Amino acid sequence: MERGQRFADRTAIVTGSGGGIGEAYARALHAEGANVVIAELDETRGRSVASDLGPRALFVPTDVSDPDSTDRMAAATMEAFGRVDHLVNNAAIFADMKLAGLTNVDYGYLDKFMSVNLMGALHCTRSTIRAMAANGGGSIVNQSSTAAWMGIAGFYGLAKAGINYLTVSLAQELGHRNIRVNAIAPGPTDTAALARQVPEEFRQPLIDSLAIKRLGTPADHVGAVLFMLSDESAWMTGHIMAVDGGQITRI
Ligand SMILES: NC(=O)c1ccc[n+]([C@@H]2O[C@H](COP(=O)([O-])OP(=O)(O)OC[C@H]3O[C@@H](n4cnc5c(N)ncnc54)[C@H](O)[C@@H]3O)[C@@H](O)[C@H]2O)c1
Repeated sequence: MERGQRFADRTAIVTGSGGGIGEAYARALHAEGANVVIAELDETRGRSVASDLGPRALFVPTDVSDPDSTDRMAAATMEAFGRVDHLVNNAAIFADMKLAGLTNVDYGYLDKFMSVNLMGALHCTRSTIRAMAANGGGSIVNQSSTAAWMGIAGFYGLAKAGINYLTVSLAQELGHRNIRVNAIAPGPTDTAALARQVPEEFRQPLIDSLAIKRLGTPADHVGAVLFMLSDESAWMTGHIMAVDGGQITRI
């Protein structure tokens, strides 16, 4: 599908965009005219996406769990592009996530996990809102998961439920500065990270549980993120949009 230039002259930061769904988000924003910051912990992956995109893309080494690092991310964005309009909080420990339950996960690991998968979104938000407000506002999309609603995903789901809370609560706090905060809740999406988390024998049962009988792809989420970030959703905030092949049913 031919795309437009909805994001010309805008600057978007996408965390964890060195691969998977975040990379698809960054590429789509770039194709729509945005300056894009690849804010990624993994230098090899981050640099490779930024250099492939070329002009208007910048890799900024970032650890979302560290507020000093996210402040540097915002400063580097301002230095390169002079503004921040959009933030996508996509980064997460996912591909190499430990398998453990809430009652037996190591506390040190749980602290680290929450500092990335939950607090990371808050750190990035706090680091960027001043620049957004200075330009009259902006929009943020948090990457949640259907796991937040399913109650079976232990500490991963707990962090995503927290992301949902952050989304609605920050939407209330930031609305008067014309900063909108929404979220996307992907269902199971065919990335290298998912392949590491879902053993082959569970793949087909997972597909069978969906209304649309296939896994999602990173491209399936692009329309939602562009819509949620763009002025097309100018009066939407605090909304969590499932993009999940019909995995979640709610009335
Ligand atoms: N793939 C799925 O089925 C699925 C479903 C629902 C939600 N999600 C969510 O979508 C997002 C992307 O998932 P994915 O499948 O593309 O996985 P992925 O592992 O490819 O993406 C996560 C990215 O975050 C980066 N990252 C990790 N820690 C970081 C940190 N401290 N600072 C900065 N970057 C960091 C990783 O290097 C990686 O590039 C995650 O938030 C995940 O929880 C994925």
